Amino acid sequence: MNSPNRISILAPDGAELSVAAAGQGPTLMLLHGFPLDHRLWMHQIENLSANFHVIAPDLRGFGKSTSPAGFSIAQLAADCEFIRQKLAPDAPLVLGGLSMGGYVALEYWAQYSHRLSGLVLSHTKPQGDDEPVRAKRLEMADAVLQRGTWEAVAEMLPKLISPATAGSRPQVVELVRDMMRSQPPQTIAAAQHAMAQRRDFLDQLPRIDVPVLVITGQDDPLAPPDSTARWAEIIPRQQFHAIPTAGHLSPLETPREFEALLEPFLQSTVA
Ligand code: MLT
Repeated sequence: MNSPNRISILAPDGAELSVAAAGQGPTLMLLHGFPLDHRLWMHQIENLSANFHVIAPDLRGFGKSTSPAGFSIAQLAADCEFIRQKLAPDAPLVLGGLSMGGYVALEYWAQYSHRLSGLVLSHTKPQGDDEPVRAKRLEMADAVLQRGTWEAVAEMLPKLISPATAGSRPQVVELVRDMMRSQPPQTIAAAQHAMAQRRDFLDQLPRIDVPVLVITGQDDPLAPPDSTARWAEIIPRQQFHAIPTAGHLSPLETPREFEALLEPFLQSTVA
């Protein structure tokens, strides 16, 4: 096993980007969801770094990364490219994102597709928000600045973890709660504004010309298997899987099953 290094990278606008990195070989960058941090990927950093160079940033404002101001999804994608230039300048990249991280991965594809050898879109969607969802995001952005992080985000917890995980693996619930609690209110607000304004990529899916692995959980209420399968099949070179008993966070809830899909996909992108 390779212990991850924690690397701090200074972005051009002064943000400090904290990145966990381990292993050598083809590069896999993993982008966490909202309102989490790189610890979402703790099992993959440990288990895949035997064969791959695994890079898991705390997106700006989250975890140990800082953000001097608000940000957009495009800014988060630009941060990923900056990190790639610093840590894997010559390598093509497989980029994986979960939920909000998937929004960033699609934006990265739109801007820097020539850098990619594959995409992993997990528990996410290409569609932008409709008006009611946008309004809810702006409500949370206001609430978090008045009432603090936990008051604003606690209602999300049961939607992130499946009943099977909650019943059998209390340590996963504790870790997710800890990640959620520890994000600064300003970051929660900035991320909700960023997600409310993100682009819709549904019409662009037929243009994705790298292999794409789409994963969700059978018990994910935020990225349900039926609707995920419908958009996944629009992508030319895709494979779709819904992991039994997983909720919204299969990398933590069912890491073995998640890695059993990811590892052969990674091998196929370098074969
Ligand atoms: C996430 O898990 O990143 C969120 O559910 C994304 C979102 O709020 O759309």
